[in-house]
Amino acid sequence: MKIIESVQEMQAYALACKKQGKSVGFVPTMGYLHEGHEALMKQARKENDLVVISIFVNPLQFGANEDYDDYPRDERRDIQVCRKNQMDVVFLPKVGDMYASSQTIALHVEKRTNVLCGRTRVGHFNGVVTVLAKLFNITLPDYVYFGIKDAQQVAVVDSLVKDLNYPISIVPVPTKREADGLAKSSRNVYLSNQEREEAAQLYQALQFGRTLVKDGQTKPAIIVSEVKNFIRQHTNGQIEYVELLNYPSLHTTEEIDQQVILALAVTFTKARLIDNIIFDENGMIQNLIL
Ligand code: PAJ
Repeated sequence: MKIIESVQEMQAYALACKKQGKSVGFVPTMGYLHEGHEALMKQARKENDLVVISIFVNPLQFGANEDYDDYPRDERRDIQVCRKNQMDVVFLPKVGDMYASSQTIALHVEKRTNVLCGRTRVGHFNGVVTVLAKLFNITLPDYVYFGIKDAQQVAVVDSLVKDLNYPISIVPVPTKREADGLAKSSRNVYLSNQEREEAAQLYQALQFGRTLVKDGQTKPAIIVSEVKNFIRQHTNGQIEYVELLNYPSLHTTEEIDQQVILALAVTFTKARLIDNIIFDENGMIQNLIL
């Protein structure tokens, strides 16, 4: 397994592999790797000749009052996890190398950001698409793996690839969960024992919402209100949002008549948790359509 820190070296290596006709799979991450990330690595490993994983806590996607400095980091352990999953290259760029000079060109996401996390995390998705545009140009992937856990990110990256004509296929990977349903996240370490127990109810709340659709409910407003009540009854978390939108357009709808996302963000003392499920108009979970 190669560990590459230099942007130039990474690009030269990817280019050489492409010239040999190898397919390149790419797994972008911010590290502190857990089984959610590993699900992406495993799928990429199965589907490509060369697999590159990047570990880079991207300052551009954190707001001023967010946890960039405190974001959990453990490079040594991450490298072991990459080795275990037979990654070919771990790309570990430095902030100063990725953003060597102040940028002249800015990428701005025009749609799909005025809802869900985009509403409060102003500028977040601009930072995400900027770093991904750079990482795509550095690692030259054919397939890029993203977790449906961050479904708004998948929707925005789908637009990035289509609008800017990247010759890349986005591969959405299902959310990896703890045994009790809590979505795996680097931020789960911030939960107290009591909060950890309550956090499992968030997935139950989403499943409860889906059951309403299966039972014939078609009005997003009613489902959202019921899901909020469920969360209030079962947790002490603060609800930031519960939303039901068409997916991947993220348009609001009065009537569920196509693939939709039911998504939530709930804040506990030190952890802001997000989760979602995507299902069709009958409440059935199918392969995600982008
Ligand atoms: P990060 O939060 O490290 O996540 C990296 C990838 O792992 C994302 O595609 C995310 O959706 C996926 N992931 C996280 N938890 C998951 C889970 N429980 N199941 C399945 N996949 C999961 O997302 C980012 O980093 C950054 O925004 C990045 C894309 C790297 C750009 O900086």
